[in-house]
Amino acid sequence: MTVVERVRVHPGTLAGTVRVPGDKSLSHRALMLGALVGERVEVTGLAPSGDVAATAGALRTMGATVELALDAAGGLSGHVRGPLREPDDVLDCGNSGTSLRLLAGIAAGLDGVSVLTGDASLRRRPVDRIRRPLEAMGARIDARAGATVPPLVVRGGALRGIRYDSPVASAQVKSCVLLAGLAADGPTTVASPLRSRDHTERMLEHLGLPVASVTTEDGREEVTVTPGPLRAAPLAVTGDPSSGAFWMVAGALGDDAVSVTDLNANPTRFGVVATLLELGADVTLTQRGPRTGEPVADVRVAASELAGGVLAGVGVVDALDELPILALAGARSRDGLEVRDAAELRVKESDRIASLAAAFRALGMAFEERDDGYLVPGGQRPGPGTVDAAGDHRIAMTAAIAATVATGPVEITGFGAVSSSYPSFLDDLAALGGRVEVLASRT
Ligand code: S3P
Repeated sequence: MTVVERVRVHPGTLAGTVRVPGDKSLSHRALMLGALVGERVEVTGLAPSGDVAATAGALRTMGATVELALDAAGGLSGHVRGPLREPDDVLDCGNSGTSLRLLAGIAAGLDGVSVLTGDASLRRRPVDRIRRPLEAMGARIDARAGATVPPLVVRGGALRGIRYDSPVASAQVKSCVLLAGLAADGPTTVASPLRSRDHTERMLEHLGLPVASVTTEDGREEVTVTPGPLRAAPLAVTGDPSSGAFWMVAGALGDDAVSVTDLNANPTRFGVVATLLELGADVTLTQRGPRTGEPVADVRVAASELAGGVLAGVGVVDALDELPILALAGARSRDGLEVRDAAELRVKESDRIASLAAAFRALGMAFEERDDGYLVPGGQRPGPGTVDAAGDHRIAMTAAIAATVATGPVEITGFGAVSSSYPSFLDDLAALGGRVEVLASRT
């Protein structure tokens, strides 16, 4: 497969309808939970992306059969079959934090040693957040740099059910502990300061295992899983709202409209739609029937006069991966966008506050970095320039959408990072009328 590394995108309104790859969060969980069932489980619509390939590869190394092929809609479909056992090699999670954190939870319940690692970006991302609860459950964990960053060594086996109070509202931490909890001797509860995406809980329910979940009045979330059998049921994955978000913002900032069909519309993932509505965007939602326990919708966003606003608290968690592209919406709004309570952005595929600041400045726009977020003044238009993706797919795609509303062409280096979530991004950009020049690629 050819991976585009350097690209030039020219200004011009995007318009039309697009269907994005399968949801990355759901794709990982379909493979992992499917492998825990112990029988053949059909999976459909998975993202054909680097991150999902990393999970599939790791599960094979853990003894699972994973057969996937491109389907007519461009997704990956096939089946997965456990059981899992001690891996016979290192688990390479590539660029994918979700693979590493969730697989570590599964590895903690397996007899033997698992070693998990990834690319340079992943090897900078914290694992102490999962080390503490897994140790409390009885696993032995080690990692580099004072047990804080990968490679991560998990010595798994018999686990105790625990109650864990997570200091961060992270679905990866919650899911890691719940997955370990499936192999424990009793119930496991994860309490978090705010609710986070609940795909693991919904998919476990879909596979026949009840999960108890409460959100208290002050917004705290408590989720309890009790070990029990999982039944084989097909797992269908719908479009990734985090990928769709780029086209939604393009629709709002252009002078026509963009529709994104068949998106996962789980409210814990739809903060981008809520934020666009709050900014005053012209959004039309069409609900489709639920699939695999998840709501599904089409979203149409037409040219909009955006006012501006502030995003904080649970609104940030619901739009976590969309904060880069929302920054562009903020720049094009009247009053700008302020984001608070988003310190987690510092430990994503890049330090997204720093890399967004660099990208915005490279295009001649003001961007105020905060420890836990950003302030983007409104009334700004990107100029021509060169943006480095900083190894981060969402920075690369944000720069590409910025180019469509810029006063001149934007070059993006390190564009290959996009393949971790959305390898067909440039095809979809071109299909919506985007003007793209490929400057360098590798095979
Ligand atoms: C994810 C959870 C989020 C998100 C990531 C995918 C998941 O991370 O940023 O892209 O699939 O659970 P945290 O919940 O750890 O912040």
